[in-house]
Amino acid sequence: MRTFSILATCVRTLPAVFFSALAFSGPVAANEVSSAVVRAADFTLLDQQGKAFNLHYHAQRPAVLLMAHASGSDYVTQSLEALNSDELQSQGVAVALINQEPGMDRAKLLAAAVAQGIRSSILQDEAGLVASTLDLRYAGEILLLSPQRWEVVYRGPALNEAGDAIQPALAVALQALIAGNTPEAVTQAMSLAEALPRHEAPANVSYTDVVAPMLLEKCAGCHRPGGIAPWAMTSHAMVQGFSPMIRETVLTRRMPPWHADPAIGEFMHDMSLSVEQKQQLLSWIDAGAQRGTGADPLTQVDAQLTQWSMGEPDYIVTLPEFDIPATGSLDYQFFEVPNTLDRDVWVKAVQIAPGDRQVVHHAIATFGIAPEGMADSSASLFQPQLMTFVPGNDTYIYPEDTGVFIPAGTSFFTQMHYTTYGRETRDQTKIGLYFADEAPAHVLQHYSILNQDLNIPAGAAEHEEGAYYAFQRDAVIYSLFPHAHYRGRSSEFVLRYPDGREELVLSVPNYDFNWQRYFQFEKPIAAPAGTQVIHRTTYDNSTANLSNPDPTVTVRFGEQTWEEMLYGGISFRYAEARENDFEINVEEYFASLGMGMFDKNMDGKVSLDEMPERSRQQLALAFAFMDKDKTGGLEFEEFRQFMIQTNMMGRD
Ligand code: HEC
Repeated sequence: MRTFSILATCVRTLPAVFFSALAFSGPVAANEVSSAVVRAADFTLLDQQGKAFNLHYHAQRPAVLLMAHASGSDYVTQSLEALNSDELQSQGVAVALINQEPGMDRAKLLAAAVAQGIRSSILQDEAGLVASTLDLRYAGEILLLSPQRWEVVYRGPALNEAGDAIQPALAVALQALIAGNTPEAVTQAMSLAEALPRHEAPANVSYTDVVAPMLLEKCAGCHRPGGIAPWAMTSHAMVQGFSPMIRETVLTRRMPPWHADPAIGEFMHDMSLSVEQKQQLLSWIDAGAQRGTGADPLTQVDAQLTQWSMGEPDYIVTLPEFDIPATGSLDYQFFEVPNTLDRDVWVKAVQIAPGDRQVVHHAIATFGIAPEGMADSSASLFQPQLMTFVPGNDTYIYPEDTGVFIPAGTSFFTQMHYTTYGRETRDQTKIGLYFADEAPAHVLQHYSILNQDLNIPAGAAEHEEGAYYAFQRDAVIYSLFPHAHYRGRSSEFVLRYPDGREELVLSVPNYDFNWQRYFQFEKPIAAPAGTQVIHRTTYDNSTANLSNPDPTVTVRFGEQTWEEMLYGGISFRYAEARENDFEINVEEYFASLGMGMFDKNMDGKVSLDEMPERSRQQLALAFAFMDKDKTGGLEFEEFRQFMIQTNMMGRD
């Protein structure tokens, strides 16, 4: 791919807790705790900062301590003090609180954390499903888990009966776990604690009227015969059989595969389940996944999707046939297909139709003139884009008044991500294009944010990298696309407006390489000239990341999945159209891209010490010369000139 040539060359003593039982209005009698839960099920929740916590991620720790949180509860605060959670964390123990108060939201949770002086993660269990699965009933109730088999080794309070020190049984269990032993399980009464406010679980949820329609809408697009999912939701019996697994995938947020933080922004094609839907689905499963009466709506799930859902396309691009083996993983495939149209066209909509839906995990369709050696991901990074296909999202109707202009004499390029499913198969994907009768007012643009200067230390569990793309003209943003490889842990996009205001517009707290997509805003966002679209990704190069190809190496930028990427896609239009908007202004694009990559402190200028160390000496003179206004750094126009003069555009 094109690289910037510069890079190519270049339980101790406890604090006394002053505590008064009078502070509690709730029951002060012995709250017996006995629970059938002896092992903790896996789950994923987001904390007050929007960060994801997945229980099983902590499998290599000596212990995981979970505590039921209640906002405003002094008992919770005193319990945390008695535990000395900072000390515990320094001994490798993962500590997290779980809040399941109905009506809680991110802002309230943050405020509660500040008011209670809590620095640990408070996980928001908005549907109350984790708390009920773990059977947490009292504010401050603790579950101490041994990650080896996820056994509950202690359930009860952090504090002793007098409320002035840590509960001795808990201290013993913690010490044993930290020393690498597995203690006997102990349960203690929550004598001083208040009962938690609880969600009212929906009762008698109907399969016919509630569950099956939900599955049809949110799951069956993939879980159908010939669909990408490994099993089809074709009957009640099928779903009932899979119901324990459905429960698990919902609790861990693996299914439906939608990874945007629900607290940030609203998106089209959002396939996530609402809080109420999750409660209904799990309540139905926990009551035995009963069939009930009425015809089974799932028998409507048909195998045959109409191939072209918007009618016969005006032009079909047929990709070469490709054989997919039964097992193993495949590198991305790149296909070039010549455009046989003898005229220029404006596209208004696209559909990508895989030959075998079960193997096409994503496809990115672009077009352009192929420079030599273009058969790699440059095709999707630096060419005008038609569409990114992901399962469940195969059509793209361009935003109103926008279109993509395809000149005659170009080629179509497609990046294909194939996955195997136990049987050899052959795919031949087709791309259907729908033309506009008249030229639309605006060109739909697809630009990128890139950082080729990654440096992810071996073993680092949370290493952040960033870059930005600054618009040189007023723009309207339609969608954003985060991309990293297997070490990508979380990803976000922040808009920094010219007046300095910052807005988090998309957060993907548990990034998953297997589920890549554009997130399309329900309402397009106006970004005036000078707005920086900041893209940040946190990488996990530790052993806890089970998909990490090698935690022992420093990871740099690269195309291969064992290398890493910081790449963000932006789909937008300029606010005011210009005649040649369909041509990429390469100099402007590359200068803006390069600037967003090198300007580490994101202050709108690139200073010499932000350039890679190995090239600084060589660039010192050029920098001094180019910095015409002597601000100690190159602003956009100076940087653009600098890139041209030093031949950094990396063009062939
Ligand atoms: C966009 C496509 C898609 C949608 C929508 C989808 N699934 Fe899946 N599902 C898959 C794929 C693919 C797999 C195979 C595992 C994987 O790739 O993560 C899968 C696997 C599963 C599994 C098996 C888990 C395992 O460990 O293999 C369950 C259970 C499941 N899905 C439930 C659901 C439910 C319930 C919904 C709707 C609420 C849903 N899925 C929506 C694509 C989808």
